[in-house]
Amino acid sequence: MRILGIESSCDETAAAIVEDGRRTLSSVVASQVDIHALYGGVVPEIASRAHTEALCTVVKEALDKAGLTMDGIDAIAVTYAPGLIGALLTGLSFAKGLAYSTGKPLVPVHHIRGHIAANYVAHPQLEPPFIGLVVSGGHTSLIKVKGYTEFETLGITRDDAAGEAFDKAARVLGLPYPGGAHMDRLATEGDKNRFPFTVSKVHDAEYDFSFSGLKTAVINLVHNMTVRGELIDGQLKADIAASFTKAAVKTVANGVTALYESGMRLPLVLSGGVAANSHLRAALKGITEKLGVGFFVPPLSLCGDNAQMIAAQGYYEFEAGKRAGLAQNAYACMEA
Ligand code: KG4
Ligand code: ZN
Repeated sequence: MRILGIESSCDETAAAIVEDGRRTLSSVVASQVDIHALYGGVVPEIASRAHTEALCTVVKEALDKAGLTMDGIDAIAVTYAPGLIGALLTGLSFAKGLAYSTGKPLVPVHHIRGHIAANYVAHPQLEPPFIGLVVSGGHTSLIKVKGYTEFETLGITRDDAAGEAFDKAARVLGLPYPGGAHMDRLATEGDKNRFPFTVSKVHDAEYDFSFSGLKTAVINLVHNMTVRGELIDGQLKADIAASFTKAAVKTVANGVTALYESGMRLPLVLSGGVAANSHLRAALKGITEKLGVGFFVPPLSLCGDNAQMIAAQGYYEFEAGKRAGLAQNAYACMEA
C-alpha cells in the first residue's frame, strides 16, 4: 500500500511516498531555513506563504522521483496537528483538495506520532510496544507506544521544549539560526564542567521535564558577561555551549532513568529534531546499554521534520480505519 505523506507544520514543506509504512519510494523536503534565518526564528505568516508556494512543486517532485502519478497512490496522509496553525492549514487544505479531486482516502496524522514513526522507516524490525522519547523544537515527551495507534503520555515538558532551549542558547551565543546543530558542534570543543547549570526537576512528576530555567540561566549568564565587558568568543563560547548541553542532556536523561528505575523494560526509541544531537544520542546509548534495553534512533535525515514519517504513521492510521472528512480542521495544540 502506497501512501503519499504531506507535512507543513513548521518551516519545512515536505512530501514523501512510503510503501506499507516502511519502504521509502521518494522523499522531498523544501526547507525555509534561509528565509527565517533573516529574522532569527520562524515567522509564522511567512512560513504559511512559503508552504503555499512550495506545496504543488514538492508533491509533484515526490511523485516524479518515485516514478508514479496519483493513480499509483492508495491514500494521502497529512499532518493536522500540532504546529503553527497557518502552516498546518496550508498542507491540510492542499491535501483535502488533492483527495477530493482524485477520490483517494485522506488520513489525518498527529505530528508527534509521525516523529515516532520515523523509526519504522529506519528500523524495519521495530514494532510496538516501546517507549517513545520525542525531543524536538516544540515538544519533549516520553510516550508509551502500546500499539501503532495506541499511545499513553508518561511525561511531558511543563514549559519549553528542549529544541527551544537549544535555539535560544544558540541565539544568545550569536550562532546562526536554527542553532541546535551549531550548538552540537561547538559543545564538542568546550569544557562541559566550566558553568554548572542547574538541572531542573519537576516536583512529584519525575518523568516530566522543564527547560525554561536552563534557557533563562544561559541567557542571563551571557547577558551579565556582556554587561561586564567580557567578549563571548572562542573557548568561552564553546565552554558555555558544552555546559548548557550537559545540563540539557541531563534533564532528558533524568526523566528516562527515572522511568527505567521504576521497572520499565521496553526498548527506548528516540525521535524529533533534537534526536540529531550527538551528545544526547551518546548519553542515551550509554544509559540503555547499562540497563540492557534496546535503543533505536533514526538517521539524521529522519530526525527533523519530513514527510516519510507522516506517510509511515499514515499507513498504520489507515489500517486502523482513521479517515479525515472534508471538514477536517487543523489544530495548533498537542492534545488535538
Ligand atoms: O523536529 P523538528 O524539525 O521540528 C519540530 O517539530 O519542532 O525539530 C527542530 C529542532 C530545532 O530546535 C533545532 O535547533 C533542533 O531540532 N536540532 C538540534 C540539532 N539538530 C536540530 N538540537 C540539538 N542538536 C542538534 N544536533
Ligand atoms: Zn517536528
